Amino acid sequence: MKIGVIGLGTVGFGVVDILTQQKERLEKLIQEEVVVKYGCALNEVTLPDGIIYTQDFHDVLNDDEVDVVVELIGGTTIAKTIILEALKKGKNVVTANKALIAHDGQEIFEMAMKYQSKIYYEAAVGGGIPVVVPAKEDLVANEIEKIEGILNGTTNFILTLMETDNLDFEEALTIADGLGYVEADASLDLDGKDAAHKICILAMNAFEIFFDFHKIQCTGIRGVTKKDIDYAKKLGYRIKLIAQAKKLENGYGIDVSPTLIGIKDMVANVNQAYNVVEITCNYLENVIFYGKGAGRYVTASAVVSDIMKTHQPTMWQHQYQYVEDIFPITYSKYYIRCDHPLDIDYEMYYSQDHDHIYITNPIELNDLKHQLQNESYNLLKVRG
Ligand code: HSE
Repeated sequence: MKIGVIGLGTVGFGVVDILTQQKERLEKLIQEEVVVKYGCALNEVTLPDGIIYTQDFHDVLNDDEVDVVVELIGGTTIAKTIILEALKKGKNVVTANKALIAHDGQEIFEMAMKYQSKIYYEAAVGGGIPVVVPAKEDLVANEIEKIEGILNGTTNFILTLMETDNLDFEEALTIADGLGYVEADASLDLDGKDAAHKICILAMNAFEIFFDFHKIQCTGIRGVTKKDIDYAKKLGYRIKLIAQAKKLENGYGIDVSPTLIGIKDMVANVNQAYNVVEITCNYLENVIFYGKGAGRYVTASAVVSDIMKTHQPTMWQHQYQYVEDIFPITYSKYYIRCDHPLDIDYEMYYSQDHDHIYITNPIELNDLKHQLQNESYNLLKVRG
């Protein structure tokens, strides 16, 4: 197996390191040489002996000896060209590019099928947690009904810090940024788009559908206040940024939103930068995948596992149906904070200082908003 790694940032170097350190063991496993032939990046870097450095990705794509192209440059432009060209040439591709798969998955998968090449992207969701392939292959007996999870480590870290260290959003964000957690485009994390990319990928595979990524409604954590975190805690909940996908009667419900989760629930206890994915399906019922969702070796672990998988036949093709019917999940319990009492149907009520807090019974969001017209309030989803 001859590999070209395109993109030598944090994860790229992690991949080269693991493949160098584990070479002997991996080769013994598949009874074949595992060689990194190229490392490709714009800025010259020092690579272990024997790896050819190039600035030009065409060197990798045009070398017939390379059978696995690892795309780790990110973005949706050059990365897309590289992946499509590699697949066209019959090369197998491994990528961690969540945005690209979420936006252009259909085109990429169709190219892979046309040229009988393989595409793996385990590292795009949940960093090192094996979830993309297991959700497809190891749950193949099941029909997946629902996927729910914390898919963004940065926002989970910020929410955790707001609670444990009694910080407001901006203070927690500054600390997360200082630790290098926040994406260069902070909006990807903070406004829920990164989590939306990931739930899009999981939903595509779980429900065997293609759909327009932009149909996923996402709300990030900028509107979550310290006050709401404290009130939620008093009522037995913790606020998490939850990405959700489930079958509805008229289509599929997929969204990302800050959500109150009962404190005894496992998902509520996934803190710091950890990720969790909970899958509900018909035979296995519930299964939870938990672990670190980001980091050099964490993510490189998933990339290397994909590289090794290209050695064997794939069990499934991405032969999915395009669907239009993607909606936010709006039938739910809701948390409402208001500065005066409300005339609504509720399950829990709490009042402190000038705040009146409600956990409603399950209700359609539009009906609730209708009841609350002309009111000023803060509203969050509640799981359960
Ligand atoms: N910004 C992402 C996160 C990195 O915080 O989860 C890993 O995809």
